[in-house]
Amino acid sequence: MQLDWLLAPPLPAGVPRQHLLYQRLRAAVLGGRLAPGTRLPASRSLAAGLGIARNTVLFAYEQLAAEGCLVADRHGTRVAALAPAPPPAAVTALPGLSARAATALQPEPGRDSDSLPFAPGVPALDAFPFRSWRASLERAWRAAGWRQLGYSPHGGEPALRAALAEHLSTVRGFAVQPAQVVITGGTQAGLDLCARLLADAGDFAWVENPGYPAARTALGLAGLRLHAVAVDAEGLAPTAADWAVQPPRLVLVTPSHQYPSGAVMSLARRLELIGGARAAGAWIVEDDYDSEFRRGGPALPALYGLCADAPVVYAGTFSKTLYPGLRLGYLVLPAAVAQTFMRAAGQATRPGQGVEQTALADFIRRGHYTAHLRRMRRRYEARQAALRAALARQPGPELAVTGGGAGLHLVLWLPPALPDVEVARRAAALGLGPRPLSRYTLPPLACNGLVLGYGNLDEARADEAVARLRRAMTAPA
Ligand SMILES: Cc1ncc(COP(=O)(O)O)c(C=O)c1O
Repeated sequence: MQLDWLLAPPLPAGVPRQHLLYQRLRAAVLGGRLAPGTRLPASRSLAAGLGIARNTVLFAYEQLAAEGCLVADRHGTRVAALAPAPPPAAVTALPGLSARAATALQPEPGRDSDSLPFAPGVPALDAFPFRSWRASLERAWRAAGWRQLGYSPHGGEPALRAALAEHLSTVRGFAVQPAQVVITGGTQAGLDLCARLLADAGDFAWVENPGYPAARTALGLAGLRLHAVAVDAEGLAPTAADWAVQPPRLVLVTPSHQYPSGAVMSLARRLELIGGARAAGAWIVEDDYDSEFRRGGPALPALYGLCADAPVVYAGTFSKTLYPGLRLGYLVLPAAVAQTFMRAAGQATRPGQGVEQTALADFIRRGHYTAHLRRMRRRYEARQAALRAALARQPGPELAVTGGGAGLHLVLWLPPALPDVEVARRAAALGLGPRPLSRYTLPPLACNGLVLGYGNLDEARADEAVARLRRAMTAPA
């Protein structure tokens, strides 16, 4: 049999002979050039014919026999009888995506970088306490042995859960045990767990309107049916029809600082919501993403812990208080379900970042976290003031600004002649990252404005950034 084509030029540089022989034999078998059942020469005679070492042929034969391309028996080596390769069209015609993927994902790809001025929800990355964080990380790595390189304990590192339970009892007035704290890969991962463990596919999940788009994605991808509930100055404002027609299994709320409107849920509303949820057999998930940065005072009391045995799960994150790329957050759970969440966190996602969790526990215990929050609270007040002043100073039409009682963003309302998606697109071309308010809404609500993050906006650059934003509002498309 003529097989000198197996090593015919071109011979790619850097590919060892044995690999080349293997690749070409394999391609010949899969492509049909060597038909099933074809007997191949003995290794010794193929090696002699090709002028190569016998071991080179043996390597290729053995590798292909292990894969099932060749069969070696006492009569020698032959090409295996493989099912014919599917025609190319069948290979490219992939099955469709799930219906959930089509409906739950946001239309935009999402941003890789959040460092642009006005990107909402980004903390002061330029003021991150690198030195004390690095010291905590170094201590954690020094103490780490090989065990810390495995998956981290389900529910999180005990040291972090204990440090958080203590921190929350001081700053939030929670009476929680470390066993009720489950560390997550950020709020997004926590919401995914809540959606899967607290509700079944097809159940109604209430979301705020306007509300956080990424949360809608998490709940929708878990198979929940979203029902948009209006928000007013006192926060979530469900009607009797909402309760009767789309009774929730899960209600997602941002009571301390509604995202993005900034409304604070009144005490009366909180009590009504807990009562309504109890009557409907629903869970409330409290997304407390940035209440640490309330202007002019400490964080308002959380919904969690307001009433004994309330069906509330509290979700906290380090994305705003430290940095988003850390991907660490936590759920505070009623004791009755904490064990299940721990098991699910372990079984569904294989938790990790044990060393970072240990470092974070150290960072909290040494007081660096509280000190950083204190500094950032002042910093964000200054940044918001600088942004408001720049908006007032820079020439252009006067636009309403709302929100800002806490957190890292304001809402700038636009007239109908300036569609927010278009302004945001032009702003992006000018190196700015505001988000269109319309992306936060679901029908029937329609809003036109920009969510302006100021967390990562250096005060000294506020005027220049606002001047660019004004240009985005006037520049031709
Ligand atoms: C309303 C809201 N919740 C939660 C988060 C934090 O999510 P994660 O912890 O997944 O970064 C954000 C971040 O932008 C947010 O805006």
